[in-house]
Amino acid sequence: MKKALVPGTFDPITNGHLDIITRAASIFDEVVVAVALSAKKNTLFPLDRRVELVEEAVKDLPNVTVKGFDGLLTDFAFEQGAHCVVKGLRAITDFEYEFQMAAMNWQLHRAVETFFIMSPPEYMYLSSSIVRELASMNGKFEKFVPENVVPALKEAYSK
Ligand code: COA
Repeated sequence: MKKALVPGTFDPITNGHLDIITRAASIFDEVVVAVALSAKKNTLFPLDRRVELVEEAVKDLPNVTVKGFDGLLTDFAFEQGAHCVVKGLRAITDFEYEFQMAAMNWQLHRAVETFFIMSPPEYMYLSSSIVRELASMNGKFEKFVPENVVPALKEAYSK
């Protein structure tokens, strides 16, 4: 059984994330979407809500589960029995940062490999913060997020 983690903050999950999760689920036997607390990020949605939104978005993928975590990613991967971490690579600007994280994770736990899946062109410049900015300014963000995220974002910015 090949088990992989797809980690991230998912504040909120976008169609770019969903593309990576779906493709990982077609390669690995089991995928755990690891939703990080990311305390430093001052997120719009609390961890339990981010987990719920991801769960709803991936409900049709039978080999995908969703878990929140705090602490080191490699420790969580080890705890979950996952030998692979899958990350999406978007524009070239992601490369340096992802390279650094993958190298550090390799130092921390040799048993955990990092795999990169290239984002398709339509999602190359998509990010959660761009979606949040659009939603906060009444921009059209709907086509960038899973259906269940639309009302959640609208509600968050109606306050
Ligand atoms: N589609 C759309 N957006 C994507 C994307 C994709 N495929 N891949 C990344 N992004 C965006 C996110 O939306 C996010 O956007 P935002 O900052 O504008 O909101 C941005 O890229 C960063 O993504 P994020 O999910 O915050 O991930 P990250 O690459 O910063 O890493 C963890 C998150 C959880 C993997 C990382 O912080 C971690 O490992 N934390 C645990 C602590 C640890 O182990 N530290 C040592 C690591 S060396």
